Amino acid sequence: MGTDNGKDYDMSNDRRISQRIQFLFLCAVVCINVLVLYAFSLQQCNCPAQDPGKIIDTRDEILTSYERVISELKTELKTLHQGTERLILDRTQAIYDELMARPITCGNKEDRRGSVHDPFLEWSVGERSREFEQLVEPKKLPLGYSLTMFRDTVISPVGHGCATMKAELNEYMKYKIGGECPDDEALAQKLLIGGCEPLPRRRCFARIPNNYTEPYPLPDAMWSATGDGGVIWTAHTCKNFTCLKNRVKEKVFADCVDCFDLDGRERNRWVSLGIAVDFTVDEVLAYKNGTIRIGLDLGGGTGTFAVRMKERGVTIITTTLNLNAPFNNFVALRGVVPLYMTISQRLPFFDNTLDIVHSMHVLSNWIPTDMLEFIFYDIDRILRPGGLFWLDRFFCVKSQLATYVPMLENLNYTKLRWQVADKLDRGPELQEVYVSALLMKPTQRFSSE
Ligand SMILES: *[C@@H]1O[C@H](CO)[C@@H](O)[C@H](O)[C@H]1NC(C)=O
Ligand SMILES: *[C@@H]1O[C@H](CO)[C@@H](O)[C@H](O)[C@H]1NC(C)=O
Ligand SMILES: *[C@@H]1O[C@H](CO)[C@@H](O)[C@H](O)[C@H]1NC(C)=O
Ligand SMILES: *[C@@H]1O[C@H](CO)[C@@H](O)[C@H](O)[C@H]1NC(C)=O
Repeated sequence: MGTDNGKDYDMSNDRRISQRIQFLFLCAVVCINVLVLYAFSLQQCNCPAQDPGKIIDTRDEILTSYERVISELKTELKTLHQGTERLILDRTQAIYDELMARPITCGNKEDRRGSVHDPFLEWSVGERSREFEQLVEPKKLPLGYSLTMFRDTVISPVGHGCATMKAELNEYMKYKIGGECPDDEALAQKLLIGGCEPLPRRRCFARIPNNYTEPYPLPDAMWSATGDGGVIWTAHTCKNFTCLKNRVKEKVFADCVDCFDLDGRERNRWVSLGIAVDFTVDEVLAYKNGTIRIGLDLGGGTGTFAVRMKERGVTIITTTLNLNAPFNNFVALRGVVPLYMTISQRLPFFDNTLDIVHSMHVLSNWIPTDMLEFIFYDIDRILRPGGLFWLDRFFCVKSQLATYVPMLENLNYTKLRWQVADKLDRGPELQEVYVSALLMKPTQRFSSE
């Protein structure tokens, strides 16, 4: 390449240099476009009609020649203006990266050039987000093969439900790296609930609420949330805690409508008996004589269960979403640990580790039956042998007990408590019932003969 005789650039001749830059730029752009076109055509080919080995060879040849072009350009450009070199190299590198990330849809999956075949990227081709792909693509460990992990790459996962919400995902991944994240809590939660869980990590800073206020110290924090400064209210109808507290009086429909009023019903939950199926925390703890120390409250609203347990020296993690209210912030303000996750996800605890799993209202007949069975098995997995599953106010239609009771009994737990009572709040004609159960996981299963 080159129009004049080799390397005798006249550095003082600005015009000639700028012409040369233009020529190189043009050349790079043309090469790139040809390659990209070729890559697209490779991707769309129909496998059966073609010889797979041949296609890979062709692709490899292209990549080789492309690399040669880039390195020639690099050498030539070394002597030219730095800014232009960066411009061209950045652009060629970006396109090269894309080319390497593209799945090979035809032929042998083993790419001899060592690009990582990542099936995850296949669905993200289209509306493209480099930031997203950079997060999820497998990455080589800088110190090479790890003897402890038995691998030389790591992968950052995102939920496969992301694949069904590409538009939202692309929106979510639009931000300035190192800047402030968009105010998009509602979008993030929509993705989570849609099975895009875990969400992709982002390289932007989560917004800090205006006028942030420190929480109260313990023990005061447990029963009084501080001012409204710990929350970004954009995603919620209410804009302060007073509004949330008053929701119950205004008879608005909301998840856990009375949970923010810490002087109301929350005060009595699990310490004095409410309805016929309720147990108190003290009754429950008494069954295990001090060995209930750590546990999980699934769908724990504003964290009152965890607070009541904390008062008794037991550490409870509360999973909760922010369904039109800042539940997670509120739980944290009370000095107990919120875990922001849906109930669809595998519980992030190891097998046989927790002393107790509690869940009130959340596990009920609104959950698809087979999904509920997966959840019960997952709860069983994380409970330690002898641990307690407190299914609190599970509700369903009376006739559905024929499905749910055998499902629970299938776990082979010891029934420490078992209460069924009519649930009348929506009218007796609905034939709804509450079931509360305190079940103890067996200490032995499938004992080897
Ligand atoms: C910030 O919060 C404090 C305490 O809640 C309050 O007194 C103050 O008026 C707030 N300032 C602004 C600008 O909202
Ligand atoms: C709280 O929000 C409600 C409506 O959302 C508003 O009417 C009220 O003035 C607010 N209260 C305070 C103390 O900011
Ligand atoms: C309960 O634990 C205490 C002290 O750890 C022990 O003295 C007592 O015997 C235990 N009671 C039962 C019923 O296991
Ligand atoms: C559950 O208990 C029944 C009856 O005691 C027994 O036949 C069955 O093998 C047990 N299943 C498991 C998984 O322990």
